[in-house]
Amino acid sequence: MHSALAAAFLAALALLHTSMAFVPIGGGGPTHVSITGTAILQKLRETCKAVAEASGHEFNPTGPSAEELVQACLGPTATGEVSAAKFRAALQEIYVQNGLVDRDFVNSAPHHFNSEAFLEGRGLITEGVISIKANVRNQNYQASREMLGRVLHTLQPYVNLIHPDLTIENIAAKDTPTCSDCGGGACPNPILANILKEKKLTSGYMGIFSSEKPKGKCSHGGVGDLTGSVAPRGGISKDERRPGNEAFHAAAVTMATAASLQLLEDIRSAAGDSGFLRLMGIARSAVVCFVIDTTGSMRDDIAAARSVIYDIINSKKGTQDEPSEYILVPFNDPAFGPMTRTTDPEVMKQKISKLTATGGGDHPEMCLSGLQLALTGAPASSNIFVFTDATAKDIHLKDTIIALIRSTKSTVSFFMTGASKRKRRSLRASFNDYKDLALASGGQAIEVSKGDLPEATDVILDTSTSALVTVLQRSRGSGTETFTFVLDESLKNITLYIITGPGMTFTLTNPAGVNQNHNELKGDLGTISHVGNLWRIRLDADKQTGLWKIKIISSQAYTLKVTGQSTITFIYDFVAPFGGPHPGYAPITGRPQAGHNTTLLVSVMGRKGPSSVMVGEVSLSPVSRDEAVSKGSATDMGNGDILVTVKGVPQGEFVVVLMGTDSVSNSRFQRQSTTQMSVSNVTIKAVVGSSVEPGQTLSLPFSVMTDGPGGAFTINAKNDRDYPMTFPTRVTLTTGQYANVSLDITPPATTSSGTDVTLTINAKSSNSKDSNYAVLRLSVVTKITDFTRPTCQVVRIMAEDCPEDTSQCGSFHWDISANLTDGNGTGIDSITLRQGDGDFSHTSLSGPGTVQASYNASCCSQIVEFVAVDKEGNVGICYHSIVRSAGPPSLGLARPLWLCLLLGAIMVRS
Ligand SMILES: *[C@@H]1O[C@H](CO)[C@@H](O)[C@H](O)[C@H]1NC(C)=O
Ligand SMILES: *[C@@H]1O[C@H](CO)[C@@H](O)[C@H](O)[C@H]1NC(C)=O
Ligand SMILES: *[C@@H]1O[C@H](CO)[C@@H](O)[C@H](O)[C@H]1NC(C)=O
Ligand SMILES: *[C@@H]1O[C@H](CO)[C@@H](O)[C@H](O)[C@H]1NC(C)=O
Ligand SMILES: *[C@@H]1O[C@H](CO)[C@@H](O)[C@H](O)[C@H]1NC(C)=O
Ligand SMILES: *[C@@H]1O[C@H](CO)[C@@H](O)[C@H](O)[C@H]1NC(C)=O
Ligand SMILES: *[C@@H]1O[C@H](CO)[C@@H](O)[C@H](O)[C@H]1NC(C)=O
Repeated sequence: MHSALAAAFLAALALLHTSMAFVPIGGGGPTHVSITGTAILQKLRETCKAVAEASGHEFNPTGPSAEELVQACLGPTATGEVSAAKFRAALQEIYVQNGLVDRDFVNSAPHHFNSEAFLEGRGLITEGVISIKANVRNQNYQASREMLGRVLHTLQPYVNLIHPDLTIENIAAKDTPTCSDCGGGACPNPILANILKEKKLTSGYMGIFSSEKPKGKCSHGGVGDLTGSVAPRGGISKDERRPGNEAFHAAAVTMATAASLQLLEDIRSAAGDSGFLRLMGIARSAVVCFVIDTTGSMRDDIAAARSVIYDIINSKKGTQDEPSEYILVPFNDPAFGPMTRTTDPEVMKQKISKLTATGGGDHPEMCLSGLQLALTGAPASSNIFVFTDATAKDIHLKDTIIALIRSTKSTVSFFMTGASKRKRRSLRASFNDYKDLALASGGQAIEVSKGDLPEATDVILDTSTSALVTVLQRSRGSGTETFTFVLDESLKNITLYIITGPGMTFTLTNPAGVNQNHNELKGDLGTISHVGNLWRIRLDADKQTGLWKIKIISSQAYTLKVTGQSTITFIYDFVAPFGGPHPGYAPITGRPQAGHNTTLLVSVMGRKGPSSVMVGEVSLSPVSRDEAVSKGSATDMGNGDILVTVKGVPQGEFVVVLMGTDSVSNSRFQRQSTTQMSVSNVTIKAVVGSSVEPGQTLSLPFSVMTDGPGGAFTINAKNDRDYPMTFPTRVTLTTGQYANVSLDITPPATTSSGTDVTLTINAKSSNSKDSNYAVLRLSVVTKITDFTRPTCQVVRIMAEDCPEDTSQCGSFHWDISANLTDGNGTGIDSITLRQGDGDFSHTSLSGPGTVQASYNASCCSQIVEFVAVDKEGNVGICYHSIVRSAGPPSLGLARPLWLCLLLGAIMVRS
């Protein structure tokens, strides 16, 4: 029995790091990604259930898909629909980082618990968990997700490593042999008998570049491991799925899943349920993000912005379209910011009411600096609205803004009011720069007079929904062209926008051949409004599904956009394959490489999960020219994930177009990405390997290469916090060769822990014809040494009144009080009731010493659980049950700790 369990543990170490024949997305071996997925979905179901029950409705997903989980988790479906795109994107970020540990840290033993590097591995987990908690506290969810993916990878082989307050015992000494030689290949258990008997902890040594390992030690095993050819030959994981070891394999997977669940529970407790759900991308996807010029001439514009924010808050309250977050960034000259980020509509109302128009006047303003804050602060794929009447003074940020737009996939729309003529124009910038940014992001550049602005802000209400999709977007010069697009049955609130100058006419035609002209403001197909350079056509609710046409005749350049609301949508990443022992595909942080096949990972969401849509075709389509699209060849990776390879990528900027069939309504659908992309000969490679402490300098190596003509390239790096940086501003490249350089960044000593920095590096050829970028996130995290959990001591329980017969429970009460302390720690920061619907209260947290908590509930509510989190994010749990039949009453003992001790005992001491 003992040795069987020990072997199971060793199998856990080995199996989870072994290459398999199947190449998963993101690499990392299917076991890592599937364990991570299983654990996350289970923890989310628990959290969603708790949240739903606390707010008085049932958690009842209509099926097992991510789409249905999100819909059920966010509340009753009657109040609208919500897209699962952000949830899928969040899961993808975690899975990708989970797998990338095998690319970026392939030769680092602690990241994989190879080579008996247990203590170092635990150091990584401890550091990672601190960083996750600090980032969640600051709402930096993306940084937290990326770190969570990495930590779960390292954790999965060995559960005891979550708990920095426990010791790791009995590691086999460096000179202690642990394995027997296995030349023949079929050795069921190569671990030496005395190692098992003495319950020593060991793991396989891994050599990617060298076959060296200490004498007598086990190898990791597998094709990527060179040490397996040196005696003792073979390896722990060599034949992981062979007949006869299924039970060990299952035990290993169970333990790794339990470990992952514990880690997720710890993070959930520290983050709170709503924070945890937002970390996982479960939030209504409508986000309001405004960037507002506050110089003297902007009074009317600010009033219009204020009125639309009030309108959104009041009209969407209680629906799935209610924004889950509000972001406001003011800018002036020369100041900009600070950014307000809040989930509370009242705070947003207050902030926007306090904005006043002052100063500036006749100067161009810091518009792009404000926009940079919004792009890095808002969740990915947000709709950002900029209100201004002047050109940008900080036009040098344009490349940085384009890189951020491409990497965040957010859309940026501008409301430019006429006063620009009164203002002194920047010599270098014009309103055309805003038009370029709007086009690059799939947003709109709306020019109206200040008086007409309130009529143009309907666009904002249209986009303020949790299920916005784009069906078509094109940009053209003057001329005549007919555009076709497919409207499916699921689409609601379909709106067409045309932005152009005077001298444009159009005719819209539905599938039955019914027409409406631009001058029929209320016609057979919908309602047309026209203000400034914006035409808005809202189709009637009883629209026909099928192929629509719009013929546009224009004497000026124009853009056309068709949007609607639907939960049938897709997310995508441009990816590149990577090799090594656990190969996979990783998203690229810049533009895809020119002259190569372009590969995308596309995830499609249907109304009832991926099985309710059929994908017909994925292609790359130029936005600004009527040119043939480049069709991709698709490989179904399962679960709605599709790997698409495109051979001849269009010249210039393109978008992703997806055609398919919705099997719920059996109608064809069309969707398009908003962000424009193009290929580049330049590649920038950079990986952020660790967080940085306040006041310390992080040196970040990166490499730049071009497949095009070599020569001098300028390097430009910016960060959104304005921290000091040093880097070479020029590199000389030879075609096809990486130049290795580095960038130093120093966050000030006063930076608060959990600050997230977005760093953009641009490399541009000297003739400006080619360039590429990398966008990196790094976290500023203070090293902490306090791992003491808050403790919970039950002082009093009064449950005698509760009747034996639970049908009588309604008229009786019980109560409990407990003392909570943080030992030598930093003090308790929050206490929340997790389970139970009685009255809960506690004494002030600000005072020193003990906090007293008390709880009083009906005898029908028999379990109470509350969570105390200290300032460092250490979690303590009080749990008490008065259920009589369930064995001995439990004490106020922190359950995860207890569970951990048990699992640790199983694994370490078998
Ligand atoms: C969308 O359409 C529904 C009815 O189909 C309507 O109640 C809602 O107000 C519309 N939303 C917007 C933003 O117009
Ligand atoms: C590009 O993809 C095609 C298949 O779509 C494949 O035959 C070809 O080898 C690929 N080319 C490169 C350079 O990878
Ligand atoms: C890449 O380099 C090739 C060869 O020098 C050139 O023909 C091509 O235009 C370049 N592509 C881009 C996107 O700059
Ligand atoms: C630069 O780094 C790359 C890996 O990114 C490496 O392959 C290459 O040899 C390095 N080049 C030099 C000149 O050090
Ligand atoms: C609980 O805390 C209070 C206030 O600090 C203290 O007076 C009391 O003795 C504590 N009870 C126990 C059992 O420690
Ligand atoms: C508090 O710290 C002191 C000194 O470091 C130590 O002796 C004591 O055991 C600690 N107490 C707790 C509860 O951790
Ligand atoms: C608990 O609450 C009930 C109803 O509010 C009250 O009657 C009872 O006295 C309370 N018990 C304690 C110990 O506070």
